[in-house]
Amino acid sequence: MINIVLFGAPGCGKGTQAQRLKAHYGIDHVSTGEVIRDEIRRGTALGRSMEEYIKAGRLAPDEIVIDMIANYVAEHKEARGNIFDGFPRTTAQAEAFDRILEKHGLKVDAMIDIHVPEEELVRRILLRGKDSGRADDASEEVIRGRLDVYHAQTAVVADYYAAQDKYASVDGTGTMEEVFDRIAALVDRLA
Ligand code: AP5
Ligand code: MG
Repeated sequence: MINIVLFGAPGCGKGTQAQRLKAHYGIDHVSTGEVIRDEIRRGTALGRSMEEYIKAGRLAPDEIVIDMIANYVAEHKEARGNIFDGFPRTTAQAEAFDRILEKHGLKVDAMIDIHVPEEELVRRILLRGKDSGRADDASEEVIRGRLDVYHAQTAVVADYYAAQDKYASVDGTGTMEEVFDRIAALVDRLA
């Protein structure tokens, strides 16, 4: 079983590349952002409690997201592999994640950080915002706020995995195929 953390700023291509990795390697994919949006769409209590955060582009509370991932791991411990997209996003989440995986005799194999220049990120998200229906894609102000949150709270998580010698960075510019080939080269080396 291989567990990969796909990391990077909003709009870097985590979701896009996770879909491709899933199809290519036959492994599972979870996006905490998508799980939260699904809870909101279904109008659950959990969704209602997170709606304000996600609309404003702020992080949801660690405890809630950690619980979500603990459930996911418990249900997917027999998978060939898992791609974690958008989690962990704080050092507290990364520490809790190690404890959760350890409980099941599992570990993170690698964090792959998809690097894209800031202006390209804004351009991509604004373009997607035309038809994504995502509240946090609608205005440049909220998009730039998400990037600020990334720099203030999330970027440091890379150091956590670098300290465990699990960190790799790839160039996220160019076509989606080019980015996939770069990531697949790393994953092939792990397998
Ligand atoms: P989340 O859903 O994870 O959003 P995000 O990190 O802001 O990232 P995006 O989904 O916007 O971008 P992406 O990297 O997946 O890129 P994509 O492939 O779509 O989180 C949303 C919110 O949920 C957070 O703000 C927070 O509130 C909450 N949340 C989630 N996880 C949390 C956690 N762990 N803790 C607390 N709160 C949490 O690509 C973007 C666009 O670019 C697409 O249109 C795509 O088609 C295009 N594109 C992709 N690759 C290329 C390419 N190579 N060239 C040109 N265009 C490309
Ligand atoms: Mg995404």
